[in-house]
Amino acid sequence: MLSEALRRRTFAIVSHPDAGKTTLTEKLLLYGGALHLAGTVTARKKERTTVSDWMELERKRGISVSSTVLNFDYGGYRVNLLDTPGHKDFSEDTYRVLTAVDSVIMVIDGGKGIEGQTRKLFEVCRRRSTPVFTFVNKMDRPALDTLALLDEIERVLSIRAYPMNLPMGSGVDFKGIFDRRAGTACFYERVPGGAYRAPVAAAGGIGDPIVKEALTSSAYATLLEEAEMVEHAGASFSPEDVLAGRTTPVFFGSAANNFGVQLLLDGFLEFSPPPLPRMSRGAPVDPGSELFSGFVFKIQANMDPKHRDRMAFVRIVSGRFERGMTAVNVRTGKTTRLANSSALFGRERTTVDEAFAGDVIGVLGVDALRIGDTLCADESVVYDEIPLFPPECFAIIHNPSPANYKRFREGLTQLALEGLVKLYEIPAGHQRISLLGAVGPLQFDLVQYRLESEYGAASRIENTDWTMVRRIKSKGVDSKDINNADEKSLHIPAGARLALDGDGRQVILFPTDWHMRFFEEHNDGVTLGDF
Ligand code: G4P
Repeated sequence: MLSEALRRRTFAIVSHPDAGKTTLTEKLLLYGGALHLAGTVTARKKERTTVSDWMELERKRGISVSSTVLNFDYGGYRVNLLDTPGHKDFSEDTYRVLTAVDSVIMVIDGGKGIEGQTRKLFEVCRRRSTPVFTFVNKMDRPALDTLALLDEIERVLSIRAYPMNLPMGSGVDFKGIFDRRAGTACFYERVPGGAYRAPVAAAGGIGDPIVKEALTSSAYATLLEEAEMVEHAGASFSPEDVLAGRTTPVFFGSAANNFGVQLLLDGFLEFSPPPLPRMSRGAPVDPGSELFSGFVFKIQANMDPKHRDRMAFVRIVSGRFERGMTAVNVRTGKTTRLANSSALFGRERTTVDEAFAGDVIGVLGVDALRIGDTLCADESVVYDEIPLFPPECFAIIHNPSPANYKRFREGLTQLALEGLVKLYEIPAGHQRISLLGAVGPLQFDLVQYRLESEYGAASRIENTDWTMVRRIKSKGVDSKDINNADEKSLHIPAGARLALDGDGRQVILFPTDWHMRFFEEHNDGVTLGDF
């Protein structure tokens, strides 16, 4: 069991949209021998879709709004690649996926450097000290200066950047990469249509005459200078620092041309961690332990449009999973049989009979599962909650057709359970207004789309000015939720509004920080809690 766990590598690829995450994913699949699958990816790419884009909305918009899991075997390793949505609006889903991985590959566009989304995603990795590997992509296009790029990574992300290889030129003058560890140069060959494995010719090192001949004199001088600078600048490569998230190994290449990808994959597998222990009640649970345990990091309803189903994605933390086994949902104390378990590859599912620490399985037919739930062979383990992110956009959702009320409610409740949006209610006389809260407004489109396509319920969205939500609590050491405040007993600034959250607890919505401070200053004995 331990050896099975040790050969697993569970990671995600993160990037700013368009930096090349999809292209890199396709190429990695090739190395795993998933040729037919990668082929489909490339063919469908023309329509701006990927193997992990299975929802129609994704196809229409050409963005990945949901995530799936790809796995393949390579060099004795079992590689589990958790795909993450590529759009900034779906970051909450991405954050949850990042709680289920042991390391991350960050893709940067060599011509653009660190972009907004990369920075945000990196913050999440840093909070959990997740090891990060960097792939600087698109070196076949004019790229920023190598040392400036490395410096930007260090400065903007506050992490040490260790170049595992150095690019030899860029754009039309891109000639390949110099592998610092092996001391060899790998020449770039442009292969029409993108090679399966770009041919790599190794030379005798940076001083080899064929390196000098291949480069323009200024490109060669730059390479020598850069090699000398990085040699002098940095301490030696420390695998411990990589594991601790203090150093990111940097690889250069071109995903579209499958160049530098194998060096990235080999380096990644060598230095990335096997499944890591996870904290339960203040103590780590060892992946090699006999006890089966895992946690739900994602719920997705109606993945298969033909069947109304609901899949819980479970990251296994320890022990061995066997189809048909029973496990306790530690939150409810109830025992369930895990009979219907799948591996996921875009739309395709295959039954999983056995899985180990580091693997992700899709569990169907267990409706009681929620995001963050621990599943365990007994009740001895309970994993820390998955952090929630406060919604920053709020919209009222109307049901224009009263006859559809039941479907409308059912859909909303289900999508809220998935964590797609948060659901609130605003009391208004005898009526209750449904309010959605999300990290980004694109999620509202997604809710509308899914309500219509999966539940047959049309809806209308009305945007609001609120940007934050807080619980109302009593002040003092034994501070408690206040759940029965009314507008008259509180001093509520114009623009703020009382509401109820999905669990029926009272909350207050504010348009700005100013309104929130006003509320705190004008209501004695009351304080604001988390959202
Ligand atoms: P994403 O998932 O991070 O959003 O990026 P994606 O892989 O879809 O890549 C975005 C664009 O960048 C694509 O071009 C892709 O072909 C291109 N690209 C990826 N890697 C490289 C590279 O190494 N060099 C160059 N020159 N381009 C690269 P597109 O025009 O949007 O699509 P397509 O018509 O090329 O498929």
